Amino acid sequence: MSKNKNTYICQSCGAAAPKWSGQCMQCGEWNTIAEEIAAESIAYQGYAGREASIAKMSDIAVEDTVRQSAGSQELDRVLGGGIIMGSAILIGGDPGIGKSTILLQTIAHLSQSLDVLYVTGEESPQQVTLRARRLGLPEEKVWLLADTEIERILQQAQKQKPRVLVIDSIQTMHTTALHSAPGSVGQVRESAMQLVTFAKQTQTALFIVGHVTKDGHLAGPRVLEHMVDTVLYFEGEQDSRYRMLRAVKNRFGAVNELGIFAMTEKGLREVNHPSAIFLSRYEQPVAGSIITATKEGSRPLLIEVQALVDQSHMANPRRLCVGLDAQRLSMLLAILHRHSGLATHGLDVFANVVGGMQILETSADLPILFAILSSFRNKPLPANLIVFGEVGLAGEIRPVTGGQDRLKEAAKHGFTVAIVPKANATQTEHSMQLHPVATLKEALQKLDAFWI
Ligand code: TYD
Ligand code: MG
Repeated sequence: MSKNKNTYICQSCGAAAPKWSGQCMQCGEWNTIAEEIAAESIAYQGYAGREASIAKMSDIAVEDTVRQSAGSQELDRVLGGGIIMGSAILIGGDPGIGKSTILLQTIAHLSQSLDVLYVTGEESPQQVTLRARRLGLPEEKVWLLADTEIERILQQAQKQKPRVLVIDSIQTMHTTALHSAPGSVGQVRESAMQLVTFAKQTQTALFIVGHVTKDGHLAGPRVLEHMVDTVLYFEGEQDSRYRMLRAVKNRFGAVNELGIFAMTEKGLREVNHPSAIFLSRYEQPVAGSIITATKEGSRPLLIEVQALVDQSHMANPRRLCVGLDAQRLSMLLAILHRHSGLATHGLDVFANVVGGMQILETSADLPILFAILSSFRNKPLPANLIVFGEVGLAGEIRPVTGGQDRLKEAAKHGFTVAIVPKANATQTEHSMQLHPVATLKEALQKLDAFWI
């Protein structure tokens, strides 16, 4: 390919530019122009073109997808039951969160039964080996390659024919087809494209590591997420030893599936009873804290939600969320005002999910409101109370999925009283005293019996 064939395309409106610039002249967006390999224009060939083949769905042969265990129940769960050959898996997360560690552990396990190749663009082979040794991983069959040029890497891969290929990380990779620097939008996308094509053609399982920028997006284009089959994100706080791996996209399984690990001196270990780690053990119940049962993916999880309501000294009172959606908090405060009369205009409201977890689903609405009320009144709620439910704009309490699973998990951990949406209270967990509610008003009335 001739080197001067490349063009610069705005990723927002698709306009072509002769050279890179900070702003697109067509649509005015900033930082959207990326280098691309110019495609040869193909003249319309009409009916004389190549005949495409169509087939009936029933005639398409589908082999049973065989899943290879990654050697960890938690990782298998997030992947939808194991690794599928020929699939491309992107693992994103902050630097230092454990992406290289989990892949090294996985690939060392897989090397026992398959040919594997670990391509490192960030660390030297010595560093990788040192880590593997420290973790006590089997090293004899793990092939390493320290390189950053996609063409050379694929050449090696074509020779060695690994069944599993790890690229750590995509931001360090570059293809000779483009002039731009490694890590730029064009480079990341083009490199990933070549890798994914290789994986599909050779039925190799491909793991790509991607770093995340400060605003939480994968550095480089979001299109990376469209090119791969599965996108996994590491969540968790740097100072907490727990790490959550979440599937945000999966062509071969459910999304929002969570895998929970603990970072130890011997690498990442699975956490088998995750509910226990997110529950704080207070000697006395404290104000502003409540336990809810979430269901991220297929597994119910008990999590503590905290709120702090305080006099504000600012013109615009603060609404701050950690692990929750801030927009949703504002909405909930408006609903609370309308349906209970509690005005928070002059108050700062902070909400937090304990343990670095993120709650993406709406079942945390009711517990957040209860935590806010508890902090506002400076009165605790009983420690054996569990709450979940979505709150609608009209003040109605909407049912959530998997109510029974949530109640079961709560009962398992010794909770005996539950305030839940009416529609979720059809079958009872025998040890659980259920309080079904249909509206926020009703829920607040019920709550009056519980204040300590
Ligand atoms: P790493 O996998 O290198 O992160 P990433 O590839 O996502 O940037 O993880 C590095 C962090 O994990 C580092 O802060 C040290 C910590 N760690 C442990 O605590 N124990 C271990 O056994 C290993 C290998 C790393
Ligand atoms: Mg790394």
